Amino acid sequence: MSDDIAKINAAAAALDYVEDGMTIGLGTGSTAAHFVRLLGERVRQGAVVLGVPTSEATRALAEATGVPLVDLARVTQIHLVVDGADEIDHDFNLIKGGGGALLREKIIASAADHVVIIADQSKPVQRLGGFPLPIEVAPFGFTITARQIFEVLREAGCAGDEVTLRHGAQPTLPFITDNGNFILDAACKSIPDPAALADMLSAIPGVIEHGLFIELAHTIIIGGEDDVEVWEEGDDE
Ligand code: 5RP
Repeated sequence: MSDDIAKINAAAAALDYVEDGMTIGLGTGSTAAHFVRLLGERVRQGAVVLGVPTSEATRALAEATGVPLVDLARVTQIHLVVDGADEIDHDFNLIKGGGGALLREKIIASAADHVVIIADQSKPVQRLGGFPLPIEVAPFGFTITARQIFEVLREAGCAGDEVTLRHGAQPTLPFITDNGNFILDAACKSIPDPAALADMLSAIPGVIEHGLFIELAHTIIIGGEDDVEVWEEGDDE
């Protein structure tokens, strides 16, 4: 099955949540990009919405596809966010930040009325942690922060404990986020208690934000080749 078709199907299903007059947080990554392109089509057909991008890459895509944008500082309500994820568990917890946009993604998701996560079938997992957890850190003292993260992973009972600095297009240089920070990828392998690990990571001074999104998603749409599965918060599984 083509992952791309599955991602497009999930993105198309998220359009059902869009209504005229909404301010919409626009996620980052390949699945969210499909949504931005489809939303651009809707706008060309007359839909009236405003977008708030979660990254400079998404800003550029939204401008290219004709989704009108609004400055976050001028926004009083974000009605909807549509974003992707790297892993999704059945308690609606997520790992995000594979694209390095986790800080802006989390700020916008935390302020939104309704967070819709779109993904293909490779993203749901029994337990989070197989995907290395992205953690945005201040460049100042990042080796100290990495050591503290390493200790926290052990304390939290994660099966893996490798913390690596993410590199950019040039392999000798660190990846720099839109906010001017570094990303450390923590190979947890398996996270026994995502909410507890989230709290422990947030308590480390050099950690700007981490990619554990706990209780932020309301709807999860998993795209398949011909259809989608929709999980709504509060539904029985
Ligand atoms: C970016 C993200 C993305 O949503 C996540 O990496 C999923 O990306 P994709 O849709 O390309 O698989 O969190 O920071």
